Amino acid sequence: MLEPGVQPAVSCRNVQVRFFTERRTVTALQGLNLDVAQGEFLTLLGPSGCGKSTLLRVVADLIAPNAGEVTVFGQKPEAARLRRDIGFVFQDPALLPWRNALQNVELPLQVAVSRVRRAKASPRELLELVGLKGSEKAYPHELSGGMRQRVSIARALASDPKILLMDEPFGALDEITRDRLNEELRRVWRELGITVLFVTHSIHEAAYLGQRVLMMAANPGRVRTMVPVDLPADRTLATRESAAFVALTSELRRVLETC
Ligand SMILES: Nc1ncnc2c1ncn2[C@@H]1O[C@H](COP(=O)(O)OP(=O)(O)O)[C@@H](O)[C@H]1O
Ligand SMILES: [Mg+2]
Repeated sequence: MLEPGVQPAVSCRNVQVRFFTERRTVTALQGLNLDVAQGEFLTLLGPSGCGKSTLLRVVADLIAPNAGEVTVFGQKPEAARLRRDIGFVFQDPALLPWRNALQNVELPLQVAVSRVRRAKASPRELLELVGLKGSEKAYPHELSGGMRQRVSIARALASDPKILLMDEPFGALDEITRDRLNEELRRVWRELGITVLFVTHSIHEAAYLGQRVLMMAANPGRVRTMVPVDLPADRTLATRESAAFVALTSELRRVLETC
């Protein structure tokens, strides 16, 4: 639960999601309760199949729960989707190969059926924000995996979302690139003040990025526990060598082993 007076960006009450296939029924989420504060960075950690992606999809209004209630800024997720309050970043950056970096970031502003809010920062400035100044004209095939993922983050930010949903965005990257992107993502988050829900398989990533870590368990997908992250707001990669960080990751590993 959040501190009194803190307005939640996302609120889930007793949420259940079931998938019915020919052979079986999967309970992807069961009895899920969650409040995410505005401006919070929440990481979601759990074994595969525990409903992490399903939870993000419910928040984004891509699927509806079978039971329970989800609100985004106090309203149905549909309202948030229509207002374009939500940006989504997936593991696969899915850039259009015939558009350069800048044109990919401009895309959401061009294809919108209704008038979209524009980020205060222009697409060019967003590329700079994610560390791609000078690469505006490069095409996706000319960019490294890390750079492509930066473009997809800038693209998600172009319509000025209040909530950024990130589903294992750095899962396919090498460790050094991932570390660097983790640092930069925290900087971007602090600069923009947006709410982030970030799914990962990595204990280190979950601990380094989050203000809290939502640990989930599978069969049925549910909340295992919420772990507060007691690390300084100013985190560098050196933070990972601190005793507090090591203790936190050990705790997360212990919980994960029993999920
Ligand atoms: N569209 C779907 N149809 C049937 N089952 C699904 C569908 N989407 C997800 N599931 C099942 O729901 C469970 C949770 O999936 P998911 O949210 O993708 O887990 P995670 O992202 O934590 O790996 C899994 O058992 C998965 O197989
Ligand atoms: Mg997933």
